[in-house]
Amino acid sequence: MLTRAYQHSLRGSHLPAGQPLLEIDNISLRFGGVKALRDISITVTEGDIHAVIGPNGAGKSSLLNCISGLYHPQEGQIRLHTTTGSGPEAAVGEEESADRATGELQTHTLTRLPPYKIARLGVARSFQNIELFSAMTVLENLMLGRHIHMKKSVLASMLWLGPARRQEIEHRQLVEEVIDLLQLQAVRNKHVGALAYGVQKRVELGRALCLQPALLLLDEPMAGMNAEEKEDMARYILDVHELAHVSVVLIEHDMNVVMDISDRVSVLDFGAKIADGTPDEVKADPAVIEAYLGAEDEDAEVREAVAKIEHDQQVEQGQSEENRG
Ligand SMILES: Nc1ncnc2c1ncn2[C@@H]1O[C@H](COP(=O)(O)OP(=O)(O)O)[C@@H](O)[C@H]1O
Ligand SMILES: [Mg+2]
Repeated sequence: MLTRAYQHSLRGSHLPAGQPLLEIDNISLRFGGVKALRDISITVTEGDIHAVIGPNGAGKSSLLNCISGLYHPQEGQIRLHTTTGSGPEAAVGEEESADRATGELQTHTLTRLPPYKIARLGVARSFQNIELFSAMTVLENLMLGRHIHMKKSVLASMLWLGPARRQEIEHRQLVEEVIDLLQLQAVRNKHVGALAYGVQKRVELGRALCLQPALLLLDEPMAGMNAEEKEDMARYILDVHELAHVSVVLIEHDMNVVMDISDRVSVLDFGAKIADGTPDEVKADPAVIEAYLGAEDEDAEVREAVAKIEHDQQVEQGQSEENRG
């Protein structure tokens, strides 16, 4: 698998690995009286799978929505670093590699931008619920993922004219690479609505990848999956990371699922960041143990109490039977 060569890079960022890619600076988000995010700061590094974990309602989706421009935090800033020559303007074409090699660093403040502008800067996302066109085929859904990169008019490409035709072929090649990477060959012409849930989620991942993202945002891509499907999805996310070298922000509420595949983990609880670090650091963090294992301890206490009541009842029953006998 590791030997597969890709003609086009699926990665839209050309920052050196280890540089800050996305900087979230002290953002706060309120909905009326609800504080969804409280003074959150997180730095996502180029080349990382950065997991954001936390219980339901912790603010994970809100954070993702702030990055992708669906929500605008009342306080704080979000900045994306790119190089000139990356993003949709350098979609596909001969000039691209030279451009990118000499690219200058650029910083974009995302905080007040609308979603389509953030997408154009190379931030792609999947949603917590599947948002695909179920009456269209896998291939058609993936081609749609390319549309923001299409420079030539749709009319020209439908008429199959000159440059538009060449562009269409190049887009098609890139989509074929995504199909290959995510092993979607067998279902490419199937209607998405007819596919198993786990495969639909993989198509959604593929559509986001077709954007050639600088940063891929995944909101609970393994939600609702059985253990085997989760493992498969984790494997595909690792492939996206290792073979296509795309940086990923991965939202998940089950902390065990992400620990193996993440480079860094940020933990949210009640809208606040309670920990940040490598998976090992986070697992050992007392605040995290309290937030996660604390809940399990409560369960254990309840189980213990129930067992004691049952035991007492049995003893009582035994005693009354003894009395009768
Ligand atoms: N559009 C919205 N309007 C009002 N409240 C919202 C909205 N989106 C999220 N919230 C609230 O913000 C909090 C965090 O939600 P969310 O970000 O969805 O958490 P998570 O994804 O971690 O489960 C919750 O209390 C939720 O009800
Ligand atoms: Mg959520």
